Order: sequence, then C-alpha cells, then structure tokens
Amino acid sequence: MKGQAGMTMLRYALAISLGACAVMAHAQATTGQPWKDARLSPDVRATRLAAQLTQDEKFHLIRSYYAARPKPGDKPVPPGAIGSAGYVPAIARLGIPALQESDAGLGVANSDKFRPGDTATPLPAGPVTAASWDPQVAYRGGAMIGAEAHSKGFNILLAGGVNLMREPRNGRNFEYAGEDPLLAGTIVGEAIKGIQSQRIISTIKHYAVNDQETGRNTINAQLNEQAMRESDLLAFELAIERGKPGSVMCSYNKINGDWACENDYLMNQVLKRDWHYPGFVMSDWGGVHSAAKAVNAGLDQESAGETFDQEVYFDASLRQALAKGEVKQQRLDDMVQRILRSMFAAGLFDQPQQKKAIDEKADLAVSRSTLEAGAVLLRNEGELLPLNATSLKSVAVIGAHADKGVLAGGGSSVVTGKGGNAVPGLAPTDWPGPVMYHPFAPLKAIRTAAPSADVQFAEGKDVAAAAELASHAQVAVVFVQKWATESVDAPDLSLPDGQDALVAAVAKANPHTIVVLENGGPVAMPWLNQTAAVLETWYPGGDGGEAIAHLLFGKVNPSGRLPFSWPRDLSQLPRADLPGATGGTPPASVDYNIEGANIGYRWYQARGIQPLFAFGYGLSYTRFQHGDLKVVTRDGRVQATVQIKNTGKHAGADVAQIYVQVPGGKVRRLCGYAKVFLQPGEQRNVSIPLESRLLADFDPAQHRWVVRGGSYAFVDGRSAEELGQPVALELPAQKL
Ligand code: BGC
Repeated sequence: MKGQAGMTMLRYALAISLGACAVMAHAQATTGQPWKDARLSPDVRATRLAAQLTQDEKFHLIRSYYAARPKPGDKPVPPGAIGSAGYVPAIARLGIPALQESDAGLGVANSDKFRPGDTATPLPAGPVTAASWDPQVAYRGGAMIGAEAHSKGFNILLAGGVNLMREPRNGRNFEYAGEDPLLAGTIVGEAIKGIQSQRIISTIKHYAVNDQETGRNTINAQLNEQAMRESDLLAFELAIERGKPGSVMCSYNKINGDWACENDYLMNQVLKRDWHYPGFVMSDWGGVHSAAKAVNAGLDQESAGETFDQEVYFDASLRQALAKGEVKQQRLDDMVQRILRSMFAAGLFDQPQQKKAIDEKADLAVSRSTLEAGAVLLRNEGELLPLNATSLKSVAVIGAHADKGVLAGGGSSVVTGKGGNAVPGLAPTDWPGPVMYHPFAPLKAIRTAAPSADVQFAEGKDVAAAAELASHAQVAVVFVQKWATESVDAPDLSLPDGQDALVAAVAKANPHTIVVLENGGPVAMPWLNQTAAVLETWYPGGDGGEAIAHLLFGKVNPSGRLPFSWPRDLSQLPRADLPGATGGTPPASVDYNIEGANIGYRWYQARGIQPLFAFGYGLSYTRFQHGDLKVVTRDGRVQATVQIKNTGKHAGADVAQIYVQVPGGKVRRLCGYAKVFLQPGEQRNVSIPLESRLLADFDPAQHRWVVRGGSYAFVDGRSAEELGQPVALELPAQKL
C-alpha cells in the first residue's frame, strides 16, 4: 500500500510540475496580463482583470452612452463609437475592448439613422421564427444576424425578445415569440445561442412582464408570484438556460410596485439567486430611476443614461451612495465582474473584431428559409393552393405595395435592407417610424414563379378597379398589411385603410381569392369565409417576396403553426379594453392576475371559448397521420413517442405538440414538441423529451417547482384544440 501510495504521489508531483511548466510558458506570453490566458475560465479571467481596475475604471464600465449619429442639437457621437444604440469606450491600458451595442433581434438595426448607407439583412418577424417550431431555424437566424453584427464591428446585439403575448394588440409582438413559455423560451434561447456563436454578446429582454406598450414607461404590471414564475418568467428561465445570454435587459415598467430595473425580486432573487445567472443586467434605455436602490436590487449597468434617464445615476449619485455606505464596494465589484465575465465568455478578448464583407446571398437565403419554415397557411378551401405555375393563365396581385416590397415592424428593431426603403415617406417618418418596406416585391417573385401567366397589379386604393382586375383573373392574391411598432399598441384588431372592404370586394369578384397577411399580431377577418385561402407571413423580411411565391406555388410546403391563439374579437380577451391605447393618460396599473399563467390557449380553455384559430394551428399541402401516443418515464424524465406518417402527395413537415393536464389542473399546457420532415409515404417515430417544469407547479411557499404526483393526462395535438386520445401516466410527487 505504502509503495503504491508513493508511486501515486510521484506521478502526481510530476503531473503538477509538467502542468506548472506549461502554465509558466503560457504566462510568459501573457506577462503582466494573466487574464489574457484563454485557457482560464471566464470567471477567473474576469476576477484577475477586475483586480487591476482603478475605481474610476470600474465606474467607466458600468454605464454606456447613446451613440446616435447626431442631428442638429443632438449630443455628438462619443469618439470610437460605430454609431448605434449603446457604447462603452475601451480601456486601452488593460486591453479591454469597447462595447459596441446594436439593436436588435431581427437583424442589425437602425443602420439608416445611425450609419447612413449601411445596410443589413432583415429576418422575418419573431412570430415567424416561433411558428417554425424548429429550434434549428432559430439558431440559423441568430447566427446570421450575429455574424452580420460582428462583421460591422459590434459585439453586443440587443436581441432576445421573449415577452409573452398576453396582449394581442401589443405593438412589439412582432419582436417576440408568441404566447407559450415553452415554445417562446426554446426558440428564443436557440436564437440567442446562434447569435453568441459569432463572438457577440446577446441580451435577452425585456425583463419582465413588459407585455404591452401602452404606458410602458409608467405602468405597474400586477401578477402574483406563482403565475409569473409559470408564465413570463418561465419563458426567460428556459431561454436563459438554453442560450446563456451574456446580458439581461430589464424593462421599463413596474412589476408589483417596483420598477423592473430596481426590482429585487426579479433581479436578485429570481435571476441571480434561483437561476444562478452569472452575466450582467443592463437597463432598457431610460429605465433607471435611482442609484442605490437599482444597484442593490441587482442592476449592473446603466444604458445611455446621459440621454434617456433623469440623470446618470451610475456616476455621481452612485459614488455618493458608496461613500455613505448605502451601496457596498463589494457590490460595485460584482457589477464589474459580471460585465467582464460575459465579455470573456463570449470571446470578446480573444479575437480582435474584424470588419468583413457580408455574404448577402447566403444571408438572404437564411431569411427566406425562415419565412418558408414559419409562414402559416390558415385557410385553403378546395385545395386552391398550391397554385400550378404551368396551367395558371392569369393572376391579379392587389394591395399592400406588393409591387414594391414587404412590410416591417417599427421602432428600435427596424433594419434597413439593401436597397433601402421601398416605400419611403409613409407616416410616421419619424419615431416610431419610419414605416419600412423591404425591397423584396412579391409581384416580381410571382411573375418569376409563373412565367407564362399574365400577372397584373392593382394598388388597391381604388376598390372598384381592384375588383374589376380580379374579376378577369383566374386567381386574385390580395396583400393586406397592418403596421405595428414599438412604443404604441394597436387600439383594436381591425385592418387599417379600408382594407376589409377591399378584400370583400375582390373576394366577391373572384372566388379564387388568396389573402396574404403582413401584420404584427392577429387581425379581425370579417371577410374570411368569402376567401379561398389565407397565408399568414407576419413581417416577411429579406427575400420575403420570393419566399411567399415559393409557398403559394408549392415549391415549399407551408409548415408553420401559430405561436399564439387568434381571437375572434376583443370580447374573447381577458381585457377587452386597453385603456390609453388611443391616447390620453394610461392607467397606473394593469391587472394580469385576471388570466395569471393562463395566457392565450389556456385562457380560452379555462373559459370554454373558441378562438378563430387555435394556438399550434396550421395547414399543409399534404396530410399527416399520427399514431398512438406513448408516454414513459426514462432516467427520471418523462418522454413521449408518437409515430407520424405523411399520407399525402407532397413532401412536408408536421409538428407533434404534446400537451399535459396535471392532476387537478383545468387546462392543458404544451410540455414538448418536435417538427419532423417527411417524404410522401414516409413515417417516423418521433421521441420528445417533456419539460418537467411544465408538469409541475411553482410553489411560492416552498420556493420551488413541485410535481404534485398522481395521474397525468398527456395528449398529442395538431393544435391546442385538435387533439388525439389522451394517455394517462402515474407520476410520483416530487420536488424539482
Ligand atoms: C427598447 C429596447 C432597445 C433600446 C435601445 C428601447 O427603447 O425598448 O428594446 O434595445 O431602446 O435602442
């Protein structure tokens, strides 16, 4: 024994000294700057670097500047800034790179405002990516916009919008991923992972319960702890786990009485304590209201306070708070540690930023394939679609500037694509405008797809002329639009500019009328039953016209499924009124306890209401047959298996949606999903691991997720309403 122990000791000593040699050799390369050693963990590197910082340098890192290209009267762009939403200057002495922050989740944004002439590739709206029900689509889109951001010299993308769709009128629904915590959390988490694969820090935002724009800077969102953990916060939790974003952006609103950016429960207790989040919290622009309270509640960096906050709280006021002992030095050090740690983790120190040309064709292909995966076919009477390009003689294309381009949502996320705005000058041209049409015209793409057809266009303002054109065509394709934008909500679900009358007239003139929707959220469709087909594209993004033509002509089989329920009218919503949305002073608070965690389809189920289209709904050009659902427990995880067969004539993709009703629960919750691509006649067994937090309830008293135990009813659905046979599984009571 002794001898053996001696040998072990010798080997151990040898290993240590060999290791020490390697470390010493490397140390010579990073002499004086041990944090440059890329073999060390981001935490260790951050600690070593932080130890070198003076107090002023620490203060330097905890605030950013607005870096807009100045108009007369604006503050000058800080030297060294590319020109974007946020900038933290470099600390050259220690080799700390500047932070160059750009919006947002649908591409590198604001280029016209900040960098005239500079363009980027716009992704389709967030609900498109969510409607793909395909995490790989989300990752690819994230990696594309991350690479573009990197090649322009940015290292933070203000992306990762994951606020749940409590309010279908919310002006920012087009930046988010729908109403369900599992779908939104996994899709947005994957998009963040894609962005961060490109040496870019991504944010996740807007933390939290910033679910409407009306009164966003003042409103107090009321929501009890259990409901919050099981809905809005669960989406964040899942996305953070999956994507590991370097930063969390706290939102403008109040939650249960405290501003999001000084909310101890959200930042300290949930994010940092319960979720062990190691990154930093940055404020939304204008979201800080104090120094000591915000810092002690967990805010780590103040964004552009010199432009958007009452004062730069994280400078003189914070220094005073430190001096008075209201904030501890340890907490300031923690803020710095978190910022540096995220910079190391994303690789910001290890490869200098290199400006590169963008591969426009490849990037547009990513956008196009995103819409092809996420557009939702809502209606297809008599299987009018797909159109047959060879037999089609004539098409009337009508409305929504389809001769020029495709609409985008407005506000800080708007991207200027190559070719600029295809329909400039539409009001509002200033914030929250401009109204942007990306120059990817559906008309041109339809002409290319059906070269032997006579394809004519009517702009649609003259309803009679449009109907007349439609009456002479074999099919009519009517494009309708509803612009949505950050900072305001839609007062109702109606289409603007008399478009309902336009669709009704065209549909009356031609029974083969196809409607293509460009919108941020659900809209009322009083003409629905008069039309033959409806395709939902939200905001289609780069190469949108081409993708739409591919879908209409069957080059691509639609496989998107709605990431939100589509109400028939406002009376079906938890809050039929949205006071303040049409002007006037918004109320001081909004009561989200009405529906609590039962957002969207769960609300409809709980109330026994039939929406117009259910969450998860979407048609295909082929048919799928689902076999019996099997649910088993394997290695402590519940797993579902279902056989799916393509019984139709087209290749296509279907989504298995697994819903669970927990014992005593009144509604079903999505707890797992998988998308599968099948050739005609092909069948496959799809195995789906189920998310245990969707089988559990959050118990605020025990402060954890609790599986109640008992008989769980699982069901495989084609949507939240179109369900197979339920399968029961006994699960033991358990704490997660
Ligand atoms: C928005 C954020 C955005 C920031 C910077 C704010 O108004 O809410 O989403 O990232 O501006 O442009």
